[in-house]
Amino acid sequence: MVQTVNLKKSFGARVLFQEINLKLDAGKRYGLIGANGAGKTTFLKILSGEEEATEGEVQVQSGKKVGTLSQNQFAYETYSLFDTVLLGNKRLYDAIKEKEKLYMEEYTDEIGERLGELEIICCEEDPTYEYDVKITKILEDLGFPAAEHQELMSTLTGGNKFKVLLAQVLYPKPDVLFLDEPTNNLDIETIGWLENQLQHHDGTMVVISHDRHFLNAVCTHILDVDYKQIREFSGTYDDWYIASTLIAKQQQTDVSKKLKEKEELEKFIARFSANASKAKQATSRQKQLDKLDVGAIQVSSRRDPSIIFRQKREVGKELLTVRNISKSYDGEQVLNDISLTVEKGDKIALIGPNGIGKTTLCEIMMENIKPDSGEVF
Ligand SMILES: Nc1ncnc2c1ncn2[C@@H]1O[C@H](COP(=O)(O)OP(=O)(O)O)[C@@H](O)[C@H]1O
Ligand SMILES: [Mg+2]
Repeated sequence: MVQTVNLKKSFGARVLFQEINLKLDAGKRYGLIGANGAGKTTFLKILSGEEEATEGEVQVQSGKKVGTLSQNQFAYETYSLFDTVLLGNKRLYDAIKEKEKLYMEEYTDEIGERLGELEIICCEEDPTYEYDVKITKILEDLGFPAAEHQELMSTLTGGNKFKVLLAQVLYPKPDVLFLDEPTNNLDIETIGWLENQLQHHDGTMVVISHDRHFLNAVCTHILDVDYKQIREFSGTYDDWYIASTLIAKQQQTDVSKKLKEKEELEKFIARFSANASKAKQATSRQKQLDKLDVGAIQVSSRRDPSIIFRQKREVGKELLTVRNISKSYDGEQVLNDISLTVEKGDKIALIGPNGIGKTTLCEIMMENIKPDSGEVF
C-alpha cells in the first residue's frame, strides 16, 4: 500500500537513514521505534508527504486515503468540536458548509444546479448519510457529551483538544494512518479506547510510541530505526525485544571470539617471527591474521538510560507524610483533604484522569507549591 524506494534523509552532513526500501502492506500495523533523535518523526513526515526526502521517494497506492494526526493542537480554535472532527474529511466538510450557505439564499436555477453537484459529493464521501451519527458517537466515546459538540475548540484544555484531533483522524477511516506518539497526552481510559480503535483499523498503520504496552496491544510489526537503517521485524514489541537482544548477544560473542583469536595470532607472530625454525609458521599465522575480519563494529544510537541517585544519608522508614492537604485554583477545589504516607522502598504510580490534580499533588509533595491547608513533612 505504501512503498519507499531508496529513501535517504540527511541534515547537512548528518545522515539519519539511507537506502530504505520498505513495503508497508494493508492489514499490518507497524510500530516505529528507536532512540530519541534517531529520525522517527522525520521518517513519518516523509511518508505522509509533509517533508521532502534527500534522495529516493515514497509511493502510495493510488486512490488510497491517508490520515495523519495533526500536531498543532491550536489549529482549530475557532471551529466547533463537531466541525473539527468533520474536517477530517475536507471534501465532505466543504460540500456540507456550501450547501448550508446556499439553502439560506433565495433559490435560483443556478443554486439548484450547484446544490445537485454538492449532493453528489456528499453522497460520494458519505454514501450512508451517517456522518452526523458517527461523529456524535466518536465524540461521546471520548467523553464529550452531545451538548458540548457545538462548543469551540478554544474552550478545551490541551489534553481534550488532542482527543478531538484523534477523532478527526480516525473518523474518516483512512486506508493509511500515520500517528506520532498518540498516547503522550492521553489518560489510561482513552489509551484503552485508542488501542481498541486501532486494533480494528483495516488498512496500513505506522505509529511512533515509547509505550511498550501500547505497542504490544496494537502492532503486528516493528520498524526499528538504528544504524542509519530501518529494519522490519514481524511480531509485537516484546517479540522484537527478545529477537534483537539475542542478535546483539550473538554479534558480541562473534566479535569477542575474533578479537581473542587475533590477539593469540599476534602474540605468536611477535614471539617467533625472528626465530628461523618457526619463521614459516609465523608467516602462515600472519596470513591468517590478515584474513581475519573483525568487522567494523557498528555503533547503535541507543543509549541505555540510567538514573543514579546518590544518598547523603540512610533514610528512615517513613519518608514523607502528607496530612489533610487541600488545594483550590480560582475557587475550584482540586484536592480535598488528602493524606498519605510514602515509605522507604515504595514505588508509587499516580493515576487519574487529566486535570484531576496529579501534578498539583506532586508539586505540593516536592514543596514547590503551597497547599491551602494541611502539611507535608
Ligand atoms: N529541520 C531540521 N533541520 C535540522 N535538523 C533536524 C531538522 N528536523 C530534525 N532534525 C534533527 O534530526 C534528528 C532526528 O529528529 P527526529 O526525526 O525528530 O527524531 P525522533 O522523532 O526519532 O526523536 C534530530 O537530531 C533532529 O535534531
Ligand atoms: Mg519524534
